[in-house]
Amino acid sequence: MSESTGKPVIELKDVKVYHHARGGGLFRPNIVKAVDGVDFTISRGETVGIVGESGCGKSTLASVLVGLQPPTSGEVLFHGKPAIKRNAHMRKEFGRSVSVVFQDPATALNPRMTVQDILTDPLQIHGIGNAASRAAKVKELLALVGLPQSAAEVTPSQVSGGQRQRVAIARALALDPDIIVADEPTSALDVSVRAQVLNLLSDLKTQLNLGMVFISHDIQTVRYVSDRICVMYFGKIVEQGTATQVFDSPTNDYTKKLLGAAPSLLHI
Ligand SMILES: Nc1ncnc2c1ncn2[C@@H]1O[C@H](COP(=O)(O)OP(=O)(O)OP(=O)(O)O)[C@@H](O)[C@H]1O
Ligand SMILES: [Mg+2]
Repeated sequence: MSESTGKPVIELKDVKVYHHARGGGLFRPNIVKAVDGVDFTISRGETVGIVGESGCGKSTLASVLVGLQPPTSGEVLFHGKPAIKRNAHMRKEFGRSVSVVFQDPATALNPRMTVQDILTDPLQIHGIGNAASRAAKVKELLALVGLPQSAAEVTPSQVSGGQRQRVAIARALALDPDIIVADEPTSALDVSVRAQVLNLLSDLKTQLNLGMVFISHDIQTVRYVSDRICVMYFGKIVEQGTATQVFDSPTNDYTKKLLGAAPSLLHI
């Protein structure tokens, strides 16, 4: 199953993200505990699924993992070193190593850029290669995600939703990352293409020995791709284990409730 190297690329220790919500007063602030004491690791070669209902803190946890959100407290380690007070070099290395695929490719991709430019952009920002090697990389990326070479010349709005998400996945792979964090990567897609995009992510993870954090509110989808599953409830991980453990012998009441919920849209 997993060919994890064993050494976590990212490690979270007792991470909390608290927001001050509207409606609170000066002496009685309303605090939303979006993430509330989470320990988490992700290594190359493993897919970890994070599942839980809307508002339980999945996207907040994802933004901590990709370095977009500093935690209120707790530690974020990148290759074993604190990633909070990171310098410019470490920020760049973190950005190369950890990339993200968002829910809706229509808003995640610049509609005015061609696919060629979208895929070249990260390479230029990181000063990788020359014009010829970047053009070759774009060709390689398109092939990797199953898009025709002709897709390079069009803009994201000129391709289908499923193809758009393939472009977003290709962009996420441009810098040869160690880890991909995919936050509900199939929820905005037509039901008919969800399984294809899931299969693609799953194949890429194996082919490139990536670490993948796969986030969804749908436990059946998570099961389909994950080696390990974390169930989140109100900012906490209330259950974790291998997919088999979580499905066959859930210990937590909330997990049992999730398992008893409606069948996955994926399978309808
Ligand atoms: N900037 C913010 N200010 C205040 N509250 C916030 C902020 N960001 C998130 N929250 C709250 O934190 C909680 C967790 O939000 P988050 O988006 O992480 O949940 P989620 O599990 O991704 O939900 P969904 O499945 O709907 O995407 C929610 O209650 C949300 O309202
Ligand atoms: Mg979310």
